[in-house]
Amino acid sequence: MTSVALAFSGGLDTTVCVSLLKEEYGYDEVVGVTVDVGQPESEFEEAKETADAHGLDLHVVDAKDEFAELCFDSVRANATYQGYPLGTALARPVIANAILDVAKEEGCDALAHGCTGKGNDQLRFETVWRASDLDVVAPVREMGLTREWEKQYADEKGLPVQSGNDGVWSIDTNLWSRSIEGGELEDPSHVPPEDIYEWTETPQGETGTVDIEFENGYPVAVDGEEMDPAALIEHLNELAGQYGVGRTDMMEDRMLGLKVRENYEHPAATTLLTAHEALEQLVLTKEERDFKAQVDQQWSNKGYQGLVDAPIVKALEGFIAETQTRVTGKVTIKFDGGRARPVARESDFSVYSEEAASFNTKTVGDITQEDATGVAKYHGFQSRLANAAYENATKDKPGLATDGGDDVAEETSAGGQTQSGDEE
Ligand code: ARG
Repeated sequence: MTSVALAFSGGLDTTVCVSLLKEEYGYDEVVGVTVDVGQPESEFEEAKETADAHGLDLHVVDAKDEFAELCFDSVRANATYQGYPLGTALARPVIANAILDVAKEEGCDALAHGCTGKGNDQLRFETVWRASDLDVVAPVREMGLTREWEKQYADEKGLPVQSGNDGVWSIDTNLWSRSIEGGELEDPSHVPPEDIYEWTETPQGETGTVDIEFENGYPVAVDGEEMDPAALIEHLNELAGQYGVGRTDMMEDRMLGLKVRENYEHPAATTLLTAHEALEQLVLTKEERDFKAQVDQQWSNKGYQGLVDAPIVKALEGFIAETQTRVTGKVTIKFDGGRARPVARESDFSVYSEEAASFNTKTVGDITQEDATGVAKYHGFQSRLANAAYENATKDKPGLATDGGDDVAEETSAGGQTQSGDEE
């Protein structure tokens, strides 16, 4: 008896995979695994219904809290990829690990996903799975299936398919973001219809504010109320979503080099990332901020690749953790016209000194305004030296004229004239 654990969502791809794994791949048993990373309740119901109709043994694993914690790690890294807050990307390693655990418990021989050969998710799943000694199978990729083919196959076999949008859009939802792709959205010039959005209202001009409190860079409370990570994210998705905050319509560069048009909704992520960065502006030094921007970018790239377990991520997080010891405080965010922007921030660790910055104070400690005169004299000194030396060295040498650009331009236009003269 051979068995395979399948990443199962109840959507078109994975539903078709259940049959294919038996009929084409010859597995005797398919164990479906749905991992809860904060999808809406309806998705689990659909997955269960579809599984029942298939006679599929379905395991539902709750990984919501683990995923929420990873989302908060990403906040400390101000993590976005080309503007997208990484919901799908960060969820994949969590899902892959949960499926691997079930597969081991159930004594499965193999692991399967329903990803195509074009996307990122195949890579994110398999990097986790290939660390085990189980086989990895990817029917949609290996059989070169299209969505059209799948729809027809599902029809012929009478397979129940996720009813929601009749398979028009390919949707991936978790706590951190909702992604909508496929159908007409594949044309980048096609304006998305309003009905692709479920988390965000069309901004109507109302405004609102929210206070976010952080401890060591982790969000801990909203409007004075302490909440667990998952609850805090859900609460903010609801709240910020009402103001239409957190829509992204972008061209995304996938790992394999393809560009794709992606639409996302992520109200909580946008709010928390904006607030976190605003607090860092207050408490971190310029050098820390400059260097951290590079660290954050590296973290984000690894997050996008599904490689949050890479050794470098631990190393990056060492730096991040050190900086976050002072990222404790409160930020007020204003929701306005579909945007979230910081309008107030406070922290015991604030580097800002009103006394130092104010126009109304003469001295800071024993430093006076006049002390800046020496600094101002030296500022740019080396550039002035270099410019003067160049001027001097090229003064009597026309061939080395200061602005060589003009010479080139003259030559080109002269050449052009000769040519047109020749033709005449
Ligand atoms: N392109 C995104 C990523 O790689 C999200 C893909 C989500 N999948 C979907 N079927 N909507 O992270």
